[in-house]
Amino acid sequence: MGDVNFVPGLAGVVAAKSAIGFINGQEGILRYRGIRIEALAEKSTFEETVYLLLFGALPTAAELKAFDAELRAVRAVPDGIIDILRSLPDGGHPMVALQAAVAALGTFYPQMDVTDRDGNRAAALRLIASMPTIVAAFDRVRKGEDVIAPDDDLSHAANFVYMLTGERPDDQVSRLVDVCLVLHAEHGFNASTFTGRVVGSTLANPYSAIAGAVGSLSGPLHGGANERVLHMLRAHFTDIEKVGEVLGGMIDRKEKIMGLGHRVYKVKDPRATILQKMAADLFESHGSTPLYDIARTLEEEAAKRLGAKGIYPNVDFYSGLVYEKLGIEVDLFTPLFAISRVAGWSAHWLEQLEDNRIYRPTQMYTGETDAEYVDIADR
Ligand SMILES: CC(C)(COP(=O)(O)OP(=O)(O)OC[C@H]1O[C@@H](n2cnc3c(N)ncnc32)[C@H](O)[C@@H]1OP(=O)(O)O)[C@@H](O)C(=O)NCCC(=O)NCCS
Repeated sequence: MGDVNFVPGLAGVVAAKSAIGFINGQEGILRYRGIRIEALAEKSTFEETVYLLLFGALPTAAELKAFDAELRAVRAVPDGIIDILRSLPDGGHPMVALQAAVAALGTFYPQMDVTDRDGNRAAALRLIASMPTIVAAFDRVRKGEDVIAPDDDLSHAANFVYMLTGERPDDQVSRLVDVCLVLHAEHGFNASTFTGRVVGSTLANPYSAIAGAVGSLSGPLHGGANERVLHMLRAHFTDIEKVGEVLGGMIDRKEKIMGLGHRVYKVKDPRATILQKMAADLFESHGSTPLYDIARTLEEEAAKRLGAKGIYPNVDFYSGLVYEKLGIEVDLFTPLFAISRVAGWSAHWLEQLEDNRIYRPTQMYTGETDAEYVDIADR
């Protein structure tokens, strides 16, 4: 076999240079293009954060205005995309529908030349602008409701809520969704970002690269965790008086509590700290729910039992609760993550193309080396 260095899951292997997202898991630091996530969550908007991620610097007021207008102009999707969504089974997962629709966009906007920088920029903007439209349309189509066209007077976040529910959200809800989008927009070389870069490295069209990333995010080991928080709370934590007891049983049986712990952060995920505060404000102003009360009790009990191990609630713990409170279906939580992360994927795709080399790792071959072909009659 010679000298091979096999690293399962490529854990810790440096596969690219990147100047987009910085993470220090030991100290709980996340920065986009060098700027702390706390500052972006407090002061930025999703639109501005997208600009920062794509182009490497904060826009001036004029640049942001023009960029926002460009995004608003490409929110609508071709009728053929809505027809595709209508043709899909109602029970299909929205992430699969999103992946199919994103890939299909490549047939409406064919772009085989990815050396065209203007074309690449336009494709990135179209993808970022149109993914909320696709997700909202699929949800309405599967419920037998009319598809709602984008409202160009609303921000990216508020427009998504409007297209989904038919109601224009108040400022607090708009801002909360906006911050959720900012918080999930980029997170280094995670599986979906890597997938997008691998597909992009073959010089495939941008819609194929982002569709690949959507598929990667759909798995329960990646984007699916926020859905599972809700399923777990509903299935196991039905009685607030018994939260400690149920939790203790799960810990004794070595079961993982969804929404706690993080592979990278060994202190509290900085995004969780931000969202926890915003969730508390939302439930205070818009009324608590039984599930939120249970979740807070779970958080307190978990801190007593798992805090010493560095296991804290992660961003998915709070995002699931917030989305549930906003009336968003549980199976739309991961699509909502995708609507945000497409900003990071697009930035990585553009960065990959700036200095491209096709990804081609190698393998450790473990099969037969000299097997004989046996004729079918003799097997
Ligand atoms: C995210 C996750 C995979 C990180 O795992 P990890 O870094 O490999 O952590 P480890 O498996 O090394 O865990 C260290 C210890 O904490 C415990 N632990 C970790 N996460 C836990 C959780 N969610 N619930 C209970 N115990 C947990 C482990 O059992 C282990 O205990 P031990 O030392 O007694 O064996 C894991 O925390 C998890 O599965 N969390 C739930 C799913 C989730 O919310 N994922 C979204 C992440 S954004």
